Amino acid sequence: MSHADDHQGTRRDFLYYATAGAGVVVTGAAVWPLVNQMNPSADVLALASIRVDVSAVAPGTQITVLWQGKPVFIRSRSEEEIAEARAVDLSDLPDQSAENANLPDGTPATDENRALTEDGVWLVQMGVCTHLGCVPLGDAGDFGGWFCPCHGSHYDTSGRIRRGPAPKNLPVPVASFVDETTIQLG
Ligand code: FES
Repeated sequence: MSHADDHQGTRRDFLYYATAGAGVVVTGAAVWPLVNQMNPSADVLALASIRVDVSAVAPGTQITVLWQGKPVFIRSRSEEEIAEARAVDLSDLPDQSAENANLPDGTPATDENRALTEDGVWLVQMGVCTHLGCVPLGDAGDFGGWFCPCHGSHYDTSGRIRRGPAPKNLPVPVASFVDETTIQLG
C-alpha cells in the first residue's frame, strides 16, 4: 500500500469514527433535558463522565469520541507501537511530564505513566493539539503517532510531543476501565 493510500485510509477511518463519536453526543443531548429537569446537580454529573464501549476497537486502531465538547482518542495500540513508545529516552522529550490527570503533576512522561493499562495496550488522550487546539491526525507524523497539520507538530505513539511548536504532550484525561470492554471518561 502506498503512503497516499495509507493516508486516505486514515482519513476515512477518522471520519467514520468521528461520526460514530457524534452518536455519543447525540445520545447525551437527548438525555440532557430530562436530567436537567430532575436535578440541577445531576446534569453536571451526566456531563462529567461518559462510558465508551471499546469492544470493537481492533489492535492498531483508534476511535474518537466527543466528551465535554472535545475529541478524545481511544487507541488500542499494537505491540510495535508500545515497544516504540517504551524505548524512548526521557531526555529526548520536550515535555517530560506525563500530563496524566490520573497521576500527580510532574510525574515523568514514561509510556508506562501515560498508558491506561499496565500492558500498554490502551492509550486514552485528549485529541486536542497543545499548540493552538487543532485535532491531530492518527497514524501520522515522523514518530508514527499523531500529526497536527495546522503548524506541523509531531507526537509519538505515546502521544508525547516530539517535534514542532506544540509545547506539551497530549493530555491524558481521568479514565478507567469499569468492566472488560468499557472505559469511563471522567
Ligand atoms: S495547533 Fe497543532 S501545531 Fe498548531
